[in-house]
Amino acid sequence: MKRIAVFASGSGSNFQVIAEQFPVEFVFSDHRDAFMLERAQNLGVTSYAFELKEFENKVVYEEAIVELLDQHEIDLVCLAGYMKIVGPILLSAYEGRIINIHPAYLPEFPGAHGIQDAWEAGVDESGVTIHWVDSGVDTGQIIKQVRVPRLPDDTFETFEARIHEAEYKLYPKVLRELGVKEK
Ligand code: GRF
Repeated sequence: MKRIAVFASGSGSNFQVIAEQFPVEFVFSDHRDAFMLERAQNLGVTSYAFELKEFENKVVYEEAIVELLDQHEIDLVCLAGYMKIVGPILLSAYEGRIINIHPAYLPEFPGAHGIQDAWEAGVDESGVTIHWVDSGVDTGQIIKQVRVPRLPDDTFETFEARIHEAEYKLYPKVLRELGVKEK
């Protein structure tokens, strides 16, 4: 069985979708006040939260994360709105075992504002991508992606909601394809 951990920084709606369908060993948040921690509690999923600023530097912070992953014997780390770049300590320990969801059709619109950047560029369609994590920002090998249209009467909010709906379908699909067993 493949054991998964989910990393998120904020709302955690992708985490919730994953946790409803798959056993999640734990969630990690790099913000102690993230809403996703409430979701974890409601879902009965173990959670850990600590912040980079509580550590001497990012090396020590990531060493603490690697320790958690090792302790829980995690096979696959699922980033879902984890807003930090994965550094060399975490990457070297878990390379090839970390995936990320990005709310655009990579390599289009990488970075922290994929939905907004696509919207502002006036595209007819954007998308969602799940990819392996490497040392770049949203540059790792693509696992699967889907196109999401921008409709003529969309507002930013309706467009954004359609992107999120696509995320909620794509993440479970990719996890199944990677051999993660459902609940
Ligand atoms: C998602 O759109 C994800 O693709 C992006 O950050 C957002 C996180 O949303 N990286 P949530 O925390 O899962 O609600």
